Amino acid sequence: MMDNIQELGDDLLARIAAAADPAAIEAIRVEALGKQGSVSALLKTLGAMSPEQRQAEGPKIHALREAVTQALAGRKEALEGAALEARLAAETVDLSLPAPEMPRGSVHPIAQVMDELAEIFADMGFAVATGPEIEDDWHNFTALNMPESHPARAMHDTFYFPDRNALGREMLLRTHTSPVQIRAMLERGAPLRVIAPGRVYRSDSDATHTPMFHQIEGLVIDKDIHLGHLKWTLETFLKAYFEREDIVLRLRPSYFPFTEPSVEVDVGYTLVNGKRVVGGAEGWMEVLGSGMVNRHVIAAAGLDPDAWQGFAFGTGVDRLAMLKYGMDDLRAFFDGDVRWLSHYGFSALDVPTLSGGVGTSA
Ligand code: PHE
Repeated sequence: MMDNIQELGDDLLARIAAAADPAAIEAIRVEALGKQGSVSALLKTLGAMSPEQRQAEGPKIHALREAVTQALAGRKEALEGAALEARLAAETVDLSLPAPEMPRGSVHPIAQVMDELAEIFADMGFAVATGPEIEDDWHNFTALNMPESHPARAMHDTFYFPDRNALGREMLLRTHTSPVQIRAMLERGAPLRVIAPGRVYRSDSDATHTPMFHQIEGLVIDKDIHLGHLKWTLETFLKAYFEREDIVLRLRPSYFPFTEPSVEVDVGYTLVNGKRVVGGAEGWMEVLGSGMVNRHVIAAAGLDPDAWQGFAFGTGVDRLAMLKYGMDDLRAFFDGDVRWLSHYGFSALDVPTLSGGVGTSA
């Protein structure tokens, strides 16, 4: 009997130690400890033994079962630990290796130009202000000196919503970034120096107009501000943006309800291989609307127009992008054609800085 138990134990423990996977362990467990198992069969022999025999054999058989049970559990744990180690090793990511592929996406020229503009104006002390694209007619028109009957409202081809807001104001998609002038003055007070880039909407669509386009607004409110500040600011901005010194501006009297006097700004261009290139003064292109902020607008935004003056300007971001980077169809900007994007898009790592250049090419 003794030899039998010893032998069975040695055999089982050796095989458990050699088991390669959980399935092998389970097979040995059933073979030894299952209902028909070899160890179970030994336990069953205890019942037929004399008391003396049982006293002698019982502890050995129980010890065998205990040893096999523990060996099975130990081996199982070791195998699971090894499997986990292998998985962790396989899933390791070496962050010091180069990226497997070139990043596929690119920065859209509009986003790039917006970053360039923010960089240029930040250097002149302008903060970035924002406002909602779904606007009410008070901010978009009334506070900008365009009361309900004002003819300029009709010129904006406005998209209106069917319902008014809680204050009874008509709701619309903003037709320009100028309502952000009002919001910035109301929220921040004076003195103030902000730009407001963003999307605007007009019901208009052809080769040079899309129903959604981008503008950037500029607003300075302070004491003793005059047209000279406006001209210097625009000249400094356009020189930095186009990255050339030979920028020539021409200011023409104009009309906007929210500025008085109003000034339209042309930039001189030179013809190079039949294409207009900004710089010089062979011809003129209109690039900006601007003027001194109308005192009615300053008052509507809660400031005293006798104490505060300022200037404002607005321009199309899409147009600025086309002029600088040589795209000639506005509609292509919003088609989402990956060939266009990979040609005109910018690297995500090419962040505009004044020291490094604001627009280091595609
Ligand atoms: N909001 C005007 C437009 O959309 C541009 C502008 C802004 C003009 C600020 C003057 C001052 O045409």
